[in-house]
Amino acid sequence: LARGTAGPDLAGRHVVVSAGGTREPLDPVRFLGNRSSGKQGYALARTAAARGARVTLIEANTGLPDPAGVDVVRVGTAVQLREALLKAAPDADVVVMAAAVADFRPETYATGKIKKKDGQDPEPIVLVRNPDILAEMAADRPRPEQLVVGFAAETDDVLANGRAKLARKGCDLLVVNEVGERKTFGSEENEAVVLGADGSETAVPYGPKEALADTVWDLVVDRLG
Ligand code: CTP
Ligand code: CA
Repeated sequence: LARGTAGPDLAGRHVVVSAGGTREPLDPVRFLGNRSSGKQGYALARTAAARGARVTLIEANTGLPDPAGVDVVRVGTAVQLREALLKAAPDADVVVMAAAVADFRPETYATGKIKKKDGQDPEPIVLVRNPDILAEMAADRPRPEQLVVGFAAETDDVLANGRAKLARKGCDLLVVNEVGERKTFGSEENEAVVLGADGSETAVPYGPKEALADTVWDLVVDRLG
């Protein structure tokens, strides 16, 4: 159903997509991470390239092969992801934050491996907040016409939580997934509602991540000047 299959409606556009999940190191062998597979972000990158866009894909810890015709930048942590985004964003028409960014990172990094000591309880891990990259990208746009798209996984009152998050982040579109049994991380399929800052609400039925990606690009194309 995607209109994108009809032609290169993103030709001449530069899109920046983040994918995967950040890992926040504790010591040289350990990290705090999340289960994001990166597949939705890669589907966004592939479909944007197929629709004619120049694509910069900033990936965190996916282990996925580079999509053809896409510039790939590899990062590890949230702070590195922010730096890569700030570098890529100035000439982007669209920034899509599909990556799962760790909300917290360990306050300190142990340069040597943390060892257990006989008869001693472990030291607590102190966490500090990571920057909210999406909110920052939406607030400080290098070009006023740049579009910013976020993702959110929600439970309970999914739409109300999504609306509140969209407003808080200040982005143009928010792709809201309901977290549930079938809708697990790492799957090939997804189901979502895309909320627009203009009040729009687009339901995307359970199906391939490419179909959701094409719907996101349809909504983006509608909003590009
Ligand atoms: N995000 C971000 N920087 C962060 C955290 C999240 O850019 N430090 C982005 C994600 O890439 C995603 C969107 O914000 O596009 C929503 O992420 P989510 O974790 O749902 O939002 P949070 O504000 O962290 O809210 P919560 O407390 O529900 O985790
Ligand atoms: Ca979060």
